[in-house]
Amino acid sequence: MRENYIPVKIAGVGYSLPETVITNDDLTKLYETSDEWIYTRTGIKERRLVSGSEDAMDLGLDAAKKALEKSGIKPEELDLIIAASSAPPQLYPAIACHIQSRLGIETDIPAFDITAACSGLIYGMQVAKGFINSGIYKNILIVATDNNSRYLDWTDRGTSILFGDGAGAMVLTPSSDGIEDILSIDIKARGSIGALIYKDNVGKNCPLVEPCPEHDGFIHMNGKEVYKFVVTILPQYIEEIIAKAGLKAEDIDYLIPHQANLRIIQAIQERLNYTDEKVITNIKYYGNTSAASVPIALAEGVEKGTVKLGSTAILCGFGAGMTWGGAIVRLREGIC
Ligand code: UT7
Repeated sequence: MRENYIPVKIAGVGYSLPETVITNDDLTKLYETSDEWIYTRTGIKERRLVSGSEDAMDLGLDAAKKALEKSGIKPEELDLIIAASSAPPQLYPAIACHIQSRLGIETDIPAFDITAACSGLIYGMQVAKGFINSGIYKNILIVATDNNSRYLDWTDRGTSILFGDGAGAMVLTPSSDGIEDILSIDIKARGSIGALIYKDNVGKNCPLVEPCPEHDGFIHMNGKEVYKFVVTILPQYIEEIIAKAGLKAEDIDYLIPHQANLRIIQAIQERLNYTDEKVITNIKYYGNTSAASVPIALAEGVEKGTVKLGSTAILCGFGAGMTWGGAIVRLREGIC
């Protein structure tokens, strides 16, 4: 270990979901589909959606408060806020700045957003770990939050069946006992296939120049190609992350993956030869909540007791960019 290396503690996690539930049967009112088609292809039965003026910032704030409470860190003790969102309700101010303000933090700590779609938590953890390990910042709040439902084309049954809204948060601090909780972490991107999932901002050129083509602002996805790409690279990638930590798959207690499609999760599960108890899934109830998916699965798993603490877990995400990433983490008592 490097001299002056400060290990990271995962001090608290939290999550938040909107109350409104939309089932697969509800979607049959919008287009021709069926619960059977959606469930067998994706593992999704229902999803939670924001309603009225509720948005990703409200959900993110709620998740942040819960993670802070568990961590024992007060908002005013934070040194940095990082928010990860696939599509923030406002591009600026950053979600992180909104959260800073709504937590009542009056010191001018830095706050910024990361756009790494469904890999957002892992990207945020990698950035935060670098800051803590090097002693630049101590207490860091990561908030991963999305309200995809507001950017879906609700006539497109290929995308709108998949996504839901939600938020998750994690507080990282220096570890006082010298134990590093992020045993291994890695992030990747391949921009050359970015067109597989994209969402344009809507805007118009100056009226004095030639107009630009109009964009709809919806989430567009080539689901089949995303699926093929992910099942081709992810299982082997996760094995590499495990090896990088000096571990074997059987040494790790849980797989807590991005919840995009149950069949993708099962492909990873098969490769690692894990029983169902070791694989945390909630896609059936929440669909794909993008950046929030991994922290929701983690925090909810701990809360419901399907993830026992004093354990280790593989977190992994993938999404637009294309981005992907994985982390092997130690889950201490008291984080949730
Ligand atoms: O975090 C983002 C990461 N994204 C992902 O991980 C997405 C990965 N991809 C997937 O999960 C799958 O590609 C989907 C679930 C999105 C789609 O499944 P698919 O097996 O790739 O279906 P498809 O789009 O190839 O469509 C097959 C058929 C088509 O009919 P034809 O052309 O064969 O007659 C579609 O029109 O199924 C039809 N179809 C539907 N039918 C009923 C497409 N969507 C629906 C629907 N209900 N909702």
